Amino acid sequence: MYCETSPAALQHSALTWRAQGRVVGLVPTMGYWHEGHLSLVRWAREHCDTLVASVFVNPTQFGPNEDLSKYPADLERDAALAQEAGVDVLFCPTKDQMYGPDHDTWINVPAVAAHLCGRSRPTHFQGVATIVCKLFNLALPAFAVFGEKDWQQLALLRAMVRDLNLPVRIEGRPIVRESDGLAMSSRNVYLTAQERRVAPHIHAGLKFLADAARKGAQPAELIERTTAYYAQHIPTGQLDYLDVVDPVRIQPVQTIGGDILAAVALRLGKARLIDNMYISYGK
Ligand code: PAF
Repeated sequence: MYCETSPAALQHSALTWRAQGRVVGLVPTMGYWHEGHLSLVRWAREHCDTLVASVFVNPTQFGPNEDLSKYPADLERDAALAQEAGVDVLFCPTKDQMYGPDHDTWINVPAVAAHLCGRSRPTHFQGVATIVCKLFNLALPAFAVFGEKDWQQLALLRAMVRDLNLPVRIEGRPIVRESDGLAMSSRNVYLTAQERRVAPHIHAGLKFLADAARKGAQPAELIERTTAYYAQHIPTGQLDYLDVVDPVRIQPVQTIGGDILAAVALRLGKARLIDNMYISYGK
């Protein structure tokens, strides 16, 4: 494995791999790897000839009062984990290498970004779509792998690939959880011991919601009851959103007529944690 910082050099290598007929897999990340990242890398390793992973804390997907300057980083550890997991090239450019001073082109997917995280983070998905498109153009992957914890991000990237005819397959992989149910996230390091103890209730709340949904409750009632669940079990948490949406279009559902996605974002101390659950009605 080697680390590449130059976008032009990565693209040059990618053109060579493509000419050689090699299948390139890409795992874009913002670093501070945990088992969730590793599950994406391991899956990708099984399905490609050349595996590129990126570590880049993309500034354009953070709002002005978000945690960009505090986002956890440990590139040395990420590189060791990447090497062990069979990554061929770890792409870790600087901000200035990825965004020139005159950068002025953005990708927007407005409908998919309108709800859930897009509401409280209005410029977030424009930053995500733009950086991922840039990474696609540099690594020229046949497929790219993303975690389902960021379900809305996955839906948005699928829409981008569809609408712009990008020759990349988007692969979503299941959420990896701690043994008590908390979804793994680089942001879990922000939690105090007390916050960490109550954080598994985020997932438990979604299970409570799914249970009620399977018994026939409709979205308004599901949201009301699960909001009460969170208030009771995570009294120090501040619910950013809890919603029931169409899993592909990410639009709120009023009456359940097919599979749904329950999604939550909750602020707990310094952390804003997200989680979701796909609820299948088996139709
Ligand atoms: O999911 C993430 O870590 C980021 O949003 C991504 C896809 C690497 C883009 O910066």
